[in-house]
Amino acid sequence: MEYALYILIAYLLGSIPSGLIVGKIGYGTDIREHGSGNLGGTNTFRVLGFKAGMIVTTADILKGTAAAAIPYFVGAEVIPLVIGIFAVVGHMYPIFAGFKGGKAVATSGGVILGVNPIIFVVLLLSFFIVLYLSKYVSLSSMVAGLFGIIATLIVKDYGLTIIISLFTLFVIYRHRANIKRILNKTEPKITWM
Ligand code: G3P
Repeated sequence: MEYALYILIAYLLGSIPSGLIVGKIGYGTDIREHGSGNLGGTNTFRVLGFKAGMIVTTADILKGTAAAAIPYFVGAEVIPLVIGIFAVVGHMYPIFAGFKGGKAVATSGGVILGVNPIIFVVLLLSFFIVLYLSKYVSLSSMVAGLFGIIATLIVKDYGLTIIISLFTLFVIYRHRANIKRILNKTEPKITWM
């Protein structure tokens, strides 16, 4: 019963639609009607610029970190990574935004940050290296997950291997349209790097 309550709190935390809140309140813009239409940090950078993109990306990361931290706050015998999964589900399918949310990247990263900051740094470095080489945010997000899996195997943290594999599957599933665009060569590249 207690477990169900923490799962619900994590789902509700993940459901907070930062991109919608910042876009509508700060800029009078619904980012779902612009750019890729995705309710995430990348589309916020694209549509509303650097400051808004940073705020939304940070908020989306912190939703995952906060969910993973619930067991520490309540002193409960629940597993942070398991609770974290539900924050990511909330981010992808938010009850507060018609169940149309983001692509699981930042919130998954936030959960990992709350559990193993070193693996988070590996994810971040992999992301930026692939971004520098490819200029595709979507590809970098997917490949970073694969590097994260390898890193957890190296340090023999097999619980984390399972969770990052699950997150990477979520990320790949949510990037289906991006994958098609990468193959068609119509996926937008970043121009600032
Ligand atoms: O985090 C989402 C990113 O990988 C892709 O976003 O807006 O280009 O589909 P977008």
